[in-house]
Amino acid sequence: MDYLKVISDHADVPGGILQAFHAVQAGLGYLPKEVIAEAARVFKISTADAHGVASFYSMFSVNSRGKNVIRICESAPCHVAGAAEVVAALERELGIKMGESTANGLFALEFTECVGQCQATPVITVNGKPYLDVKPAQIPSIIAEYS
Ligand code: FES
Repeated sequence: MDYLKVISDHADVPGGILQAFHAVQAGLGYLPKEVIAEAARVFKISTADAHGVASFYSMFSVNSRGKNVIRICESAPCHVAGAAEVVAALERELGIKMGESTANGLFALEFTECVGQCQATPVITVNGKPYLDVKPAQIPSIIAEYS
């Protein structure tokens, strides 16, 4: 996919910058500075403003990171239900700490606030897809889905 073309393809779409950023984020896992510069040019705003849009929304990242972003809910209900054990299993399985990406660029680990699935805690999401009532023993098979 030509990510700079994705930006220009959204030039005349209402809210196009967000849609374009979504498409690039889904493909690359982050918004490189070339994409932000192209968005500024296409949508006729300053680079600082385009960067501001990319930075404002939590679903976008302006930093290179793992292709598959695994988020662990750290809000109280998930915490009480054993999120720490799930975190330990993820860190062990991937060989990285929270906030890091694997050397092969396949996975990143991040914390998140409540994702609205408190009925079945603890919760993790992989690229936004929720996994409910997660047990540490399930982590290898969840990771294998994306390897
Ligand atoms: S507290 Fe974790 S999903 Fe709501």
